[in-house]
Amino acid sequence: MNGNLKLAIQKNGRLTDKSLQLLRTCGLDIENYKDRLIVSARNYDLDLLFLRDDDIPEYVQDGVADIGIVGEDVVIEKEADVEMIKKLAYGKCRLMLAGPEDGNIPELHQLDGKRIATSYPKILFNFLRNNKIDAKVIQISGSVEIAPSLGIADYICDIVSTGNTLKLNKLKKFTTVFDSEAVLIGNKNIEKDSEKYVKLKNLISRIESALNAKNSKYLMMNIPKAALEKIREIIPSLSSPTILPLANDKMLAIHAVIPSDKFWEIQEDLINAGASGILLIPIENMIL
Ligand code: PRP
Ligand code: ZN
Repeated sequence: MNGNLKLAIQKNGRLTDKSLQLLRTCGLDIENYKDRLIVSARNYDLDLLFLRDDDIPEYVQDGVADIGIVGEDVVIEKEADVEMIKKLAYGKCRLMLAGPEDGNIPELHQLDGKRIATSYPKILFNFLRNNKIDAKVIQISGSVEIAPSLGIADYICDIVSTGNTLKLNKLKKFTTVFDSEAVLIGNKNIEKDSEKYVKLKNLISRIESALNAKNSKYLMMNIPKAALEKIREIIPSLSSPTILPLANDKMLAIHAVIPSDKFWEIQEDLINAGASGILLIPIENMIL
C-alpha cells in the first residue's frame, strides 16, 4: 500500500489505447507497460492496473482499484455498486442484436422461441422482458460472434463498434439494445480517504480539461475589417474572439476557440465573408 490512487483500465481491447492516450493528455508520464499488471506513473501518485474489462467494475466496487475506466455496458451488466463519475466520450459502441447475413431481419416478436447468445445476459434479459419477447438467452463469456455458425444460437447480442467483427463472421445487426461509451467509475468509499480523494479530484479536473480540449479547436484567420460583424455572427465562439490589428490596416486577425465539429459547417461561410489564411489548430489542454 503506497497511498497511490489505483486506476484500473482494460488490459487488452478497444479501450486500452484511448484510455492511455487520455491519461497522457492529462500530463501523466506512463511507461510502456507490455505484459505488466501494474505500472506507476512517473510524475503522479497513480498506479495503473491492467485488468480484463469484465473484472473492472467488481474490483472498483471492492476497493482493489479506487477508480476504473470501462465501458458503461460492462458496469450495468455487472450491477456493480460503484460511483459513475464521468462519461468519457470515447469507446462509443452499441450492444446490438445480430443474425446471419443471409437470413431475414426479424421483427422483435419473431425472436420468440429463438436462442440468442450473449455475454451480457442481464442487459439482454431486461430488454427481452421490456419488449415481451420470450427468447432463450445463451450465456457465453467470449467470442459470441461464432455462436450462430456453431449452431448453438440463432442470433447474438454483442458489442458493435466498427462492425468489423460482425462482417468477418457473416452477421448483420438489426436492433440496438444499449448505447455505451467509456466511463470513469469510482469506489463508493473513496471520499473517506481524504488524501486519495484530493488526488482523485485533481485527476478528474485534468480529465475534464483534456476532454474540453479535445472537443475544441483554435481557429486563426485574417479578415477584411469591413467583414468583422459578419464573421462574428458566423463563429460559434466559446468566448468572444480575439481581434488583432495587422500591418495592413484594412485587415484584422481573428483568433477564436470553436467546437471541433463546427469548423466544417462554417468554413465556406468564412471564405465567402472574405476570410483568408485560415488555420485550425488542435488544443492540447483547456482549463476553463
Ligand atoms: C467487443 C465485441 C467484439 C468487438 C466488436 O469486444 O465482443 O469482439 O468488440 O468491435 P468491432 O465492431 O469494432 O469489430 P470488447 O472490446 O468488448 O472485448 P471483450 O469482448 O474481450 O470484452
Ligand atoms: Zn469484455
